[in-house]
Amino acid sequence: MTIAQQRVLIIGGSSGMGLATAQRLGQAGAEVFIAGRDQSRLEAAVRTVQGKAVGIAADFTDPASLAAMIGRIGRLDHLVLAAGGGAAWGPFAQVTADALRRAFELKLLGYWQSLQAALPVLRKDGSVVMLTGAASRVAMNGTAGLAAVNGGITQMAQTLARELAPLRVNVVSPGLVDTPAYDGMPAEAKAGMFAAAARSLPVGRTGRSEDIAAAVEMLIANTFATGVLLDLDGGARMPL
Ligand SMILES: NC(=O)c1ccc[n+]([C@@H]2O[C@H](COP(=O)([O-])OP(=O)(O)OC[C@H]3O[C@@H](n4cnc5c(N)ncnc54)[C@H](OP(=O)(O)O)[C@@H]3O)[C@@H](O)[C@H]2O)c1
Repeated sequence: MTIAQQRVLIIGGSSGMGLATAQRLGQAGAEVFIAGRDQSRLEAAVRTVQGKAVGIAADFTDPASLAAMIGRIGRLDHLVLAAGGGAAWGPFAQVTADALRRAFELKLLGYWQSLQAALPVLRKDGSVVMLTGAASRVAMNGTAGLAAVNGGITQMAQTLARELAPLRVNVVSPGLVDTPAYDGMPAEAKAGMFAAAARSLPVGRTGRSEDIAAAVEMLIANTFATGVLLDLDGGARMPL
């Protein structure tokens, strides 16, 4: 299948892996709709996409905001869920129930509500790609909250791949990828974290947003792919 002329909504498309996906699909001739909360960030993102791209401000935790966005878009072939991420990090004993609840709201519930909102306008045999995270696939100290949220999305996606068929539903589970999500970290701490991760991985480097975008495009285009969980983590899951 060619992606040209396909209408794709990327929620979380104004930054990082979502933006790289928008750029890649735009270059391939898709009509790209980019959603995020910050209007100026959206406008800047749209300017970097070749071809047809529209930015729509929306908050995927708010059903009214999602409904208004879907009303503007009309018809869709594919949906990419690449937003969010709450801060449910840290030693298990210190992550409060409120922090975990918030993390679920900021990702799993956002994905859930986004797909519910888009479903009536999504082509019946179109596709959905959800970004989860390697914390749900590799047991690492301090990531039980992330594991719960992203593991929940993985499981729900695989059930939906059957329930919503012929709609195809796939998951990409990224490892550590250098995106603006880490802009808030002190530069030295960030560099140290990425260098340590790169040393630990068989590929000798951390991820780039383009690595993930290429996989999302493949899952959209390959009509034999559904219920796929694709680990793109530089080998983080391989046993020592
Ligand atoms: N980077 C990594 O190392 C990594 C690893 C594993 C998994 N992940 C997951 O991969 C996904 C993408 O990560 P990233 O690093 O590319 O993130 P990013 O650069 O921070 O981009 C996040 C995007 O989501 C949008 N967004 C956030 N909250 C939203 C909301 N409530 N409603 C609508 N849009 C919202 C942001 O725009 P606004 O802020 O303007 O709304 C932005 O466009 C996330 O789910 C993250 O948890 C990331």
